Amino acid sequence: MTDWIQRWKEGKIGWHRQQPNSKLIEFIGCFQLDKGAQVFVPLCGKSVDMLYLLNQGYRVIGVEISILAVEQFFKDNQLQYTIDCIGKFRVYSAERIQIYCGDYFALKPEYLTSVVGVYDRAALIALPSELREKYVAHLYAIISQNCRLLLLTLNYPQLQISGPPFAVNQEEVRSLYEKGFDCQQLQCFDDLENEPKFQRANVDFIEKATYCLRKN
Ligand SMILES: C[S@@+](CC[C@H](N)C(=O)[O-])C[C@H]1O[C@@H](n2cnc3c(N)ncnc32)[C@H](O)[C@@H]1O
Repeated sequence: MTDWIQRWKEGKIGWHRQQPNSKLIEFIGCFQLDKGAQVFVPLCGKSVDMLYLLNQGYRVIGVEISILAVEQFFKDNQLQYTIDCIGKFRVYSAERIQIYCGDYFALKPEYLTSVVGVYDRAALIALPSELREKYVAHLYAIISQNCRLLLLTLNYPQLQISGPPFAVNQEEVRSLYEKGFDCQQLQCFDDLENEPKFQRANVDFIEKATYCLRKN
């Protein structure tokens, strides 16, 4: 956790993108959400995907450990915010968006009662294997039945380059989510040509996969 806070302090945020994720745009329909529905973005950083969700008419609730990330999100996007304390969190709120600044594992189900969709880009795969099971178990505990998830993962030969992002293959996704979720893989393709960091490390492949899941 302290590693992430340090990364933000040093501006080492290579995962951050200036444009919304193309797979979010392509597969947002998998959520089957009505306008105004609330989408939870775990480990949200200052992702512009949250802005994209807002612009599509949804409400957003994020959680992020780094106060710098949260404050940069509101500043970069010129959103006026207020701050409240809820449990262990400082909660930053603007129109249709709230970001809980604190530890994901301290989130309680009562904070997420209106959430009907979860968007996971670079959250599960940010965590080392020993935390991934805990991450999914906690997600299961805090979201409601029938909530849908859009999950983006990467898979590559983990021995050839270290994470994060960590390699999470289809088998692991199925085993992590088999208890309590229906899981459908929507897409999987090799994208080494667009990943210079992985090319430089002579990695054999980097598969990008998208899944649609639903909590039973
Ligand atoms: C790889 S980044 C991805 C950020 C965002 N999802 C995106 O696509 O740009 C992972 C983020 O998770 C945050 N993080 C890591 N552990 C966390 C935790 N336990 N609770 C809340 N945030 C956490 C980090 O500070 C970092 O911003």
